Amino acid sequence: MGKIRVILYGVGAIGSLIAKFLLEKKGIEIVGAVDIVRNKVGKDLGKVLGLKRKLGIRVSNDVDSVLSKVKADIAVHATSPFLKDACPQIASIVKHGVNVVSTCEELSYPYVSKPKLAKELDTLAKKRDVTVLGTGINPGFLMDTFVITLTAVCQKIEKIEVVRIMNAVTRRLPFQKKIGAGLTVEEFQWKIEKKQITGHVGLEHSIAMIADALAWKLDKIIAGPLEPIIAKKSVKSKDIKVKAGGVAGLRQKAKGVMKNREVIVLDFQAYIGAEEGYDAVTIEGVPNIKQRIQPCVHGDIGTVAMIVNAIPKVINAPAGLLTMKDLPVPSAALEDMRKYLKT
Ligand SMILES: NC(=O)c1ccc[n+]([C@@H]2O[C@H](COP(=O)([O-])OP(=O)(O)OC[C@H]3O[C@@H](n4cnc5c(N)ncnc54)[C@H](OP(=O)(O)O)[C@@H]3O)[C@@H](O)[C@H]2O)c1
Repeated sequence: MGKIRVILYGVGAIGSLIAKFLLEKKGIEIVGAVDIVRNKVGKDLGKVLGLKRKLGIRVSNDVDSVLSKVKADIAVHATSPFLKDACPQIASIVKHGVNVVSTCEELSYPYVSKPKLAKELDTLAKKRDVTVLGTGINPGFLMDTFVITLTAVCQKIEKIEVVRIMNAVTRRLPFQKKIGAGLTVEEFQWKIEKKQITGHVGLEHSIAMIADALAWKLDKIIAGPLEPIIAKKSVKSKDIKVKAGGVAGLRQKAKGVMKNREVIVLDFQAYIGAEEGYDAVTIEGVPNIKQRIQPCVHGDIGTVAMIVNAIPKVINAPAGLLTMKDLPVPSAALEDMRKYLKT
């Protein structure tokens, strides 16, 4: 059997990390790369990834041209958290009969925010007999798929609470900036108003996915405001200093309400100086479940793993726009990637 052929669509921070991990793996090869950034287009992918060797693949800004020249089994899409941007890009891949696994946050459970776009993409994917999946660490796993899996041992559930606390020191500078670290409270509020800080995308999507798995008809999903986390003492990362009283990061909460009760509560906190980082799931029910992953799973490492491990599952899956709850139990693909393909 030939190797699994992958196209990269988006060679930014995450796309590059995925590419490097794919290069280490057996039974899979990168056959094309697409990105719009001027200083990447036309360059050898090896150079764009900062490797010392050429890979013989030129980064193109034209997905149609790439997919009409090379045959691919799947595209790894990593450009935008928003479906309004990602949908046309993904559709342009699907039209060539190529499966897609994407980091797009809204695609993880698109029916909650963009049902019409989701339906159109599902119809197109079925017509072209390919599968499309949005996944990642969060959304995609820690606050949804993992939680859904834990519910399997419960006979009754009253409430689910998930908390992710991350020390942003362990993350890239763009992430630290994205959460407002180092700003004053006034600057933070101004950037929110100007939509320069948009916060984490995906809490509502994770809630909707959990509710759907449990067949809970939520009355509403309430996304709380973006709140600054104020440093109590001065803290710093390699590049950012936060004075006491300044913004160290942010907190976002979202709630799923059913019959006037908060039945799903997600609490996301990312800030420089968090003393204890963890991912915690509490289920009030029969039995009660308290599950804590400590330290919290690193976002980039986890996202790269989720995307690459999903590749054979997406290729094996039936056609259409699927979500993590539609796929078999997630697992690592450690061996030659072809071993995980259904023959
Ligand atoms: N689900 C999860 O757990 C998870 C975790 C991490 C990241 N993500 C998501 O994954 C995506 C990638 O993250 P990142 O940190 O790598 O972002 P990034 O550094 O901004 O990289 C995205 C790359 O795609 C390019 N791009 C944008 N539009 C394009 C288009 N139409 N065609 C081709 N390339 C295009 C960007 O170019 P420009 O810079 O010119 O836009 C950039 O080079 C983001 O949406 C992020 O939110 C999800």
